[in-house]
Amino acid sequence: MSKLSIKDLDLNGKTIFIRVDFNVPLSPDGKEITSDKRIRASLPTIQYALERNAGVVLASHLGRPKGKPRPEMSLKPIATRLQELLGKPVVMAPDCIGAETLALRPKPGQVLLLENLRFHPDEEANDPAFSKQLASVADIYVNDAFGSAHRAHASTVGIVAYLPVAAAGLLMDKEIEWLTRATKTPERPCVALLGGAKVSDKIEVIANLIKVVDKLLIGGAMAYTFMRAQGKATGKSLVEEDKIDLAKQLLITAGGKLQLPVDHVLVREIKPGAANEVATEIGADQIAVDIGPKTVEEYSKIIGGAKTIIWNGPMGIFEMPPFDKGTVALAKAVASSGAVSVVGGGDSEKAIKTAGVSDKITHVSTGGGASLEFLSGLDLPGVTALTDKK
Ligand code: 3PG
Repeated sequence: MSKLSIKDLDLNGKTIFIRVDFNVPLSPDGKEITSDKRIRASLPTIQYALERNAGVVLASHLGRPKGKPRPEMSLKPIATRLQELLGKPVVMAPDCIGAETLALRPKPGQVLLLENLRFHPDEEANDPAFSKQLASVADIYVNDAFGSAHRAHASTVGIVAYLPVAAAGLLMDKEIEWLTRATKTPERPCVALLGGAKVSDKIEVIANLIKVVDKLLIGGAMAYTFMRAQGKATGKSLVEEDKIDLAKQLLITAGGKLQLPVDHVLVREIKPGAANEVATEIGADQIAVDIGPKTVEEYSKIIGGAKTIIWNGPMGIFEMPPFDKGTVALAKAVASSGAVSVVGGGDSEKAIKTAGVSDKITHVSTGGGASLEFLSGLDLPGVTALTDKK
């Protein structure tokens, strides 16, 4: 990466402000963490700093509290979990700025977790005075929050003006490295597998990936807007009527690169246990809920010949088994391909877990929106803000 890394810095005796993405899923009362993946992903950077005799200040947002303190979005449960994972005390600050928090400035080897940044509206407003206050608790800035790198907020962008250097953390480095390799210098053939409900969520991703990949395999409800654009019957499947013209243009630009399902799992009503059949044509009263076995076979063959695979989004109504079959089968195909595989988005990650192949995927991104923006070819403000390598 062209940006300074934490590995380029002398951390000895310094206090490091590490922006992490601890925006983890919680139970509705805010007391239980339902996935600690993002906390675990930040451990290497935290440990790296501690081992080099630095004091660590951790800062994150959690949820969307809209600029006001909300007890159910406090980072307190995260302090508890982090303490277990690190095996050392984590001091929880009462706020992310202010005299009381500054008084808790950690000494070398100590960890301070700031309270939710978004309890202040100035965080999302990227307010300079707030950024300066955040910076005042540390000597050096490190951004390890890849999942928030698409946000130009005080803790991801504004703060860099008030500290001498701004470096990428180990997770940030790894995310950028794999996503860059997959989209900028992929080993070929490079295949993208894109799913999800809406074409509208992924227009920029499709437009950008068409330029990069050798094949773009489409699944999920998004496929049916494309099929309608081809003049095919889609029954009662989810189609974005206002995106049909755009889908036509994308099909033309993609030429032979874009591939659509050739058969479908069909139901008359979307509900758990609904009677279903597999067919190549969709009847007027039918809804497509998954890719069919012929599509799985065709896509798996293409995946099997790939050297690089980029995957984002499920192939069907994944959360309602057995309509997860297509997604899980392709997860297995990606795992056994031997290709460099880069996966983003919560549902594809769940599919990998369900298929039991998590350890066979080269890189599973911790970013949802951020990885989509990266795949769209956009610059991420949180990365742009970091100090350039000399
Ligand atoms: C995410 O979960 O994608 C990031 O933490 C960003 O959260 P946000 O969409 O609320 O900015």
